[in-house]
Amino acid sequence: MSPTTAFRHYRRTDLPVCAGIAAEAFPLQASRFAGEEASRFMRAQIDACHAVANYHEVAVTATEVVGLIFGRVRRRSVLISTGQMLKRLLLISVRFLLGRYGSRRKLIRFMNPCLDQLRVLRRNMPAGQAEVVLFAVAPKYQGKRIGRALMDRFVHHALRCGVKSISVPTDETASFWFYERYGFRRWAEYKDPLESYLADRPITGFIYQLLLHKADGQE
Ligand SMILES: CC(C)(COP(=O)(O)OP(=O)(O)OC[C@H]1O[C@@H](n2cnc3c(N)ncnc32)[C@H](O)[C@@H]1OP(=O)(O)O)[C@@H](O)C(=O)NCCC(=O)NCCS
Repeated sequence: MSPTTAFRHYRRTDLPVCAGIAAEAFPLQASRFAGEEASRFMRAQIDACHAVANYHEVAVTATEVVGLIFGRVRRRSVLISTGQMLKRLLLISVRFLLGRYGSRRKLIRFMNPCLDQLRVLRRNMPAGQAEVVLFAVAPKYQGKRIGRALMDRFVHHALRCGVKSISVPTDETASFWFYERYGFRRWAEYKDPLESYLADRPITGFIYQLLLHKADGQE
């Protein structure tokens, strides 16, 4: 890993850079939009992932944000975290209505595949206690072990919270090999509704799970 890489909490001002990283790291999702529209769509995605996550961290070099990981760890204070999530989702709805995420009509078209996706995930996700919600490193910084360091930190956080497993949904178009390399095991396979919609062909989705009492990423 680059010796100058550091880690800190995600800030709202990181959103434009993180949207740029996501647009590059997930080209299939960005491909449905042109230029600035792709970045706005990614902002919506990042805000939505931020709303449901309670762990938000970025990797930074001396000059820029180069990667991010959002995760969710089950907490005892369910009321507080649900309240926070609802507040964030309300803010997202307002931004959506104000057109901050780009064409409302285009975004509405994503509603059905997104809802199908949630249904499929609900059916297939293990009853885990922690989840990776969003994970990406800017392509020009990939392969420098920044992703592994971000994941290590999330795993340590989950362990501190007393969690026994971490799950993550991914698919054949994403870097699913990262999870295999890290020690996750494949838990489920299914036709991924959202990615299939985006790609206009059937895409296989996967769920991976890391058992923390057996592996801590240092295999
Ligand atoms: C997944 C991702 C965040 C990993 O970040 P990264 O900084 O490139 O990963 P690292 O450099 O820490 O590499 C981690 C391991 O994967 C291995 N690896 C790297 N590229 C690989 C490849 N193409 N195939 C198989 N293994 C590979 C590395 O050798 C390393 O293993 P090691 O530490 O045991 O040597 C990054 O590739 C990414 O943003 N991908 C696009 C977005 C995505 O798919 N996100 C996750 C799925 S939702």
